[in-house]
Amino acid sequence: MIFRSLAVLALLVPILTTATPTAAPELTTLDPATSDELLHLHRKLVEVESITSNEEDVGKWLSKYLRRHDWTVETQEVSKTRYNLLAYGKKRETTILLTSHIDTVPPFWPYYYNKTSDIIGGRGSVDAKASVAAQIMATVGLKEQLQDDISLLFVVGEETGGDGMRAFSAWDKRPSSHEIIIFGEPTEAKLVCGHKGMLGFALKATGKAAHSGYPWLGVSANDVLVEALGELLELRKHLPWSEKYGNTTMNFGRIQGGVAANVVAETASANIATRLAAGTPDVVRGLIISALKDVKAAAQKQGGDLDIEWASEGYGPVDINCNIDGFETLTVNYGTDVPNLSGDHKRYLYGPGSIFVAHSDHEALKRKELEEAVLDYRRLIVKATEVHQKQRAQQDEEQVEL
Ligand SMILES: *[C@@H]1O[C@H](CO)[C@@H](O)[C@H](O)[C@H]1NC(C)=O
Ligand SMILES: *[C@@H]1O[C@H](CO)[C@@H](O)[C@H](O)[C@H]1NC(C)=O
Ligand SMILES: *[C@@H]1O[C@H](CO)[C@@H](O)[C@H](O)[C@H]1NC(C)=O
Ligand SMILES: [Zn+2]
Repeated sequence: MIFRSLAVLALLVPILTTATPTAAPELTTLDPATSDELLHLHRKLVEVESITSNEEDVGKWLSKYLRRHDWTVETQEVSKTRYNLLAYGKKRETTILLTSHIDTVPPFWPYYYNKTSDIIGGRGSVDAKASVAAQIMATVGLKEQLQDDISLLFVVGEETGGDGMRAFSAWDKRPSSHEIIIFGEPTEAKLVCGHKGMLGFALKATGKAAHSGYPWLGVSANDVLVEALGELLELRKHLPWSEKYGNTTMNFGRIQGGVAANVVAETASANIATRLAAGTPDVVRGLIISALKDVKAAAQKQGGDLDIEWASEGYGPVDINCNIDGFETLTVNYGTDVPNLSGDHKRYLYGPGSIFVAHSDHEALKRKELEEAVLDYRRLIVKATEVHQKQRAQQDEEQVEL
């Protein structure tokens, strides 16, 4: 269901003009009451530790908060004591969905707010509790104007593979009405036009132990692995690329092998992350397999072996809508929950704070950035709705012509 009446559009106009047309964007401010509530909400969210698998407490607190503010809250169990939250007003089937995640990476860092520098820090202060708080505050006032056509979804498990979002995708009670989905992740207040895909895998080399004085009696797993990595170094230069995302990159993140200098290594392994700038995981998997074919055959001939273990199916580059006036855009190289949400809908990705500090021990952002995100989310919701309605109207016209 989408609202199509012009009356509703007219109601939205005042929100669009929060800033006077001639004012510089940085002069736009939140009213003090909303700003204080934003600070309070963000603080509470950050103060409750919620490292992935430990999201229960923050979820409970947030449910209570949302219920107190007139939201209907449903929980979806993802695994024992871990729940996604779906919140909506009077209607459950809404056009717009705002979503982010409530888990954080370890370790926990306590909340602080330095008034002098205007900086708010602590684990999750950016990724992604800044987005959660700003999304909620963005709906204040707007929810009524949109006739409750807006829902919130806060998922668990984004930081370790996206089990929360995948569970929501597969939920038998999932509303089928969400046509505009706005994801919240740190994007430095820009609209993300897409991100690279991902293909993770491990190489497992096996050999046969022997004294290093008599290496011909054994097979060195380390030798097999080093040769395999040599092939991948070469392959790395020829992986698919695109104008939009640049080169596909391949990171040898962790390499292990053998036990001591004077022993021929029996096992060796490497963990590798490939970030796809073009193509599909199948294509890149094929390239990797064929690049390693000869090394594998040679190892087997000597009594050793080389196996590839794929971390998951992987996914290709993810294109995201970013055609909204008044927002800067960028592409990013990190993964998000976006590909984990199945279905056909318009999706946007925006959030306050920088990804570069997000997982660090100095995770922080300015209070001003948090406030601007509230205004930006409002703008984004209104403009995305307009774009959506225009396209709907066009489709309707084309139907009539047919
Ligand atoms: C707060 O920020 C100011 C200005 O950057 C700095 O001088 C001060 O040391 C900070 N206070 C604390 C408690 O970190
Ligand atoms: C992509 O790779 C090519 C060749 O390996 C290199 O010349 C180019 O600078 C790379 N582009 C980027 C954006 O890193
Ligand atoms: C799901 O999301 C997680 C983290 O957000 C990401 O690492 C993972 O690759 C995604 N999975 C798929 C199938 O897209
Ligand atoms: Zn995140």
